[in-house]
Amino acid sequence: MLILKKVVAQVEVRKKNKFMAAEAALDFVQIDFGSNEYQQLLSLRLRYLREPLGLQFSEKDLASDESDVHFGARTTDGLIMGGLALRVDGLACRLRQMLVHPDLRRRGVGKLLLKHAEAYCLEQNVLHISMHARLSAKDFYEKCGYRQIGDSFVEVTIPHIIMNKQLEKFQNLRGK
Ligand SMILES: CC(C)(COP(=O)(O)OP(=O)(O)OC[C@H]1O[C@@H](n2cnc3c(N)ncnc32)[C@H](O)[C@@H]1OP(=O)(O)O)[C@@H](O)C(=O)NCCC(=O)NCCS
Repeated sequence: MLILKKVVAQVEVRKKNKFMAAEAALDFVQIDFGSNEYQQLLSLRLRYLREPLGLQFSEKDLASDESDVHFGARTTDGLIMGGLALRVDGLACRLRQMLVHPDLRRRGVGKLLLKHAEAYCLEQNVLHISMHARLSAKDFYEKCGYRQIGDSFVEVTIPHIIMNKQLEKFQNLRGK
């Protein structure tokens, strides 16, 4: 995994501004359904979101992917290291399937992915993002400005909560 080591090194270059550093080493790109990058993202999702729970993707899960908008964090060598899916419906958007490769976590990549997704939503005049968040990811989403609504419930075998965020027009893409 020489390429991965190189990326990790690049991401850690400027510790004082980890968001800038992560962005310097990764491109945040929209991914076409069915493309090679989509297949990479799907493999990551399967390996790190579903298989640890003893689950696979259902046909229904994959069918909804076709109409979703996908974003990924891509290395200069073309490896997809994280991503998310968005389902836009008028002024609202549902966020799904968010993950970052374990080797790149806690370096600001997830936060940047969300910032790029939010910038896309604002371009689409979406003002409200919500999700069924894993309870284990609650602190991450809170740091990114999302708030819990209601009590926890079980989904795909583990506790989840609904979280949401009102987007503000003119919000700073890289601001905290
Ligand atoms: C949740 C996840 C996407 C976060 O991605 P990440 O790249 O590690 O997050 P970042 O480095 O951008 O973190 C942003 C902030 O959240 C904090 N944070 C990240 N993960 C956290 C966690 N599990 N618990 C507490 N805080 C966390 C970071 O310390 C950072 O805080 P700071 O702004 O004060 O420095 C990633 O951990 C992941 O893929 N987890 C497994 C899959 C998953 O749970 N996905 C969510 C499904 S709803």
